[in-house]
Amino acid sequence: MNIFNKYRGVWFTIVGKIPLQKGMAHTIIKLEVIMYEDLKGKTALITGAGKASGIGYAIASKLAADGAHIIIADLTGETTDPLVTGDKATMDDLANDLSGTYSVEALAVELDVTRTDSIERMIDTVKERFSHIDILCNNAGTVFGVPNTVHTYDEDAWMRTIDVNLHGVFRVSKAVVPLMPETGGSIINSASQAAKKPPLFNGAYATAKAGVLMMTKTMALELAGAGIRVNAICPGVIMSDFTRWRFDLEAQFLDSTPEKRKALKCEEIPLGRLGTTDEVANLVAFLASSASAYITGQALNITGGQLMEY
Ligand code: NAI
Repeated sequence: MNIFNKYRGVWFTIVGKIPLQKGMAHTIIKLEVIMYEDLKGKTALITGAGKASGIGYAIASKLAADGAHIIIADLTGETTDPLVTGDKATMDDLANDLSGTYSVEALAVELDVTRTDSIERMIDTVKERFSHIDILCNNAGTVFGVPNTVHTYDEDAWMRTIDVNLHGVFRVSKAVVPLMPETGGSIINSASQAAKKPPLFNGAYATAKAGVLMMTKTMALELAGAGIRVNAICPGVIMSDFTRWRFDLEAQFLDSTPEKRKALKCEEIPLGRLGTTDEVANLVAFLASSASAYITGQALNITGGQLMEY
């Protein structure tokens, strides 16, 4: 691997394969995608995967490409959350695309991770099609009531943020673990770099995601004997609706523009760009597969170098 000083404008190489020139780190790198053969025929449930632009659907697509059967679960119907698409027909189309493209079974189900009755309905629907679930990706997440300091946070917004991001992982895991086969399984929880490094004015989200890390480690210990590995991912800034919404909001509050907010953010990231949903999906596929068979209870950073330690 040759990496010359990019500030001197010389050519450099990442992983010995992808030639880049100064400034090109801001463009999207074509990924060399590893296929995980052992995922073929496995069944994966991904929460918050009903939007084509989101990390959840990128995970669903990658696992389907590896041959896994897919359950896309997401919130539908009336909601005040601007980040929720709420469209079951779109979810059905996305599931059909996956089964058509990758010759796997794919099912779209409605799910509100804050409601036990919704989770029970989802499980009933899933059981009609699949005998078990091998892989659970607790990806659903959102935020209410930002920007705000902890001591001025609206109580209802605080509770709802914690409910989706933390209790949602608890509720869905509780329902899905009994459906995992005796041969074991893999659970991947979406945390955030905010779980490790406090962001300003986003306390409920950061607190919930930090809780997800402790739940991940606790579950990893408790389920190791059953052959179920439990890991978390900690993405930095990944280009999705969530991030677009964040830049819009920051621009509004800081009298700036979304483009300027994005450019400033990129300057803070050692790799000089935002992450892509596909890059997160590749990490999740690794954690779902037996390539990571000796990894459990971890919280892996995918932040372009913003976080460099646990
Ligand atoms: P997104 O906003 O595009 O997608 C989130 C999904 O969660 C949506 O499909 C939404 O409908 C679903 N959801 C929200 N509330 C729900 C509920 N009550 N029940 C079921 N589903 C619900 O966000 P994105 O970027 O795809 O994020 C995915 C995960 O990654 C989230 O947990 C997020 O916190 C996390 N993350 C994202 C980062 C980013 O930069 N985009 C950075 C760090 C973590």
